[in-house]
Amino acid sequence: MYYEPGVTPHGLPHDPFKSCVVPRPIGWISTVDSHGRHNLAPYSQFQNVTFNPPIVMFSANQNTGGQRKDSVRNAEETGEFVWNMATYALRDAVNKSAEELPHGVDEFEHAGLVKLPSRKVKPMRVAGSPIQFECVYLNTLRFPGVPPMGTADVVFGRVVAIHIDDEVIDGQGMLDILKIQPLARMGYFDYTFVDNKFEMVIGGNNSALLAGLEGSPDKAKAAAQR
Ligand SMILES: Cc1cc2nc3c(=O)[nH]c(=O)nc-3n(C[C@H](O)[C@H](O)[C@H](O)COP(=O)(O)O)c2cc1C
Repeated sequence: MYYEPGVTPHGLPHDPFKSCVVPRPIGWISTVDSHGRHNLAPYSQFQNVTFNPPIVMFSANQNTGGQRKDSVRNAEETGEFVWNMATYALRDAVNKSAEELPHGVDEFEHAGLVKLPSRKVKPMRVAGSPIQFECVYLNTLRFPGVPPMGTADVVFGRVVAIHIDDEVIDGQGMLDILKIQPLARMGYFDYTFVDNKFEMVIGGNNSALLAGLEGSPDKAKAAAQR
């Protein structure tokens, strides 16, 4: 099949676009507003952008009333947000925290979650989530779209502190992803989680290239000096 989004119909019972980019990691984003009220929401339009320094982004459409979402408002207002790793074990809380509640309502409480303080920023961390990034707001890229929800605010932040539960670091000092079972969003109302993995290394022994692939600034520097 072939179609041109917004121009020609796809002809399917459900729009296939979001099912084409799968699985998507979930940015479970906590923020506070200028009154110190807590907010938490999942964003599957989420990614790391680079690693040295580490930068992440989440992309928020407008809410059903055509307004900027609370996570964006708060990150812009206070200059901070926290990314929490969403896991299969926390899937119901992730889902509950996505309900469209009035500004100022605390989704931690709504989803029955316990808050953990952060070290460098005010937004709280989700207890039970094995990894969190404390982030400082960098900027927002706004992509105008079709109302009410089409316009997207892509929020970028620099990761200034990282928490990793020691329980998910294995004997080789690597993250035990199969133990973490990261939750990922697919299309429609479908999800998946990571329950298998395999290893593959770029050929050619280019140590700088491999350091970049691994995301290791120290190894990249050492390789460049050789
Ligand atoms: C798993 C999951 C992923 C989501 N991903 C996005 C997303 O990438 N962008 C978006 O605008 N909304 C997304 N949503 C919907 C938001 O979480 C929802 O609109 C939420 O109420 C926003 O909260 P906030 O206004 O407190 O930021 C997602 C919902 C779920 C359950």
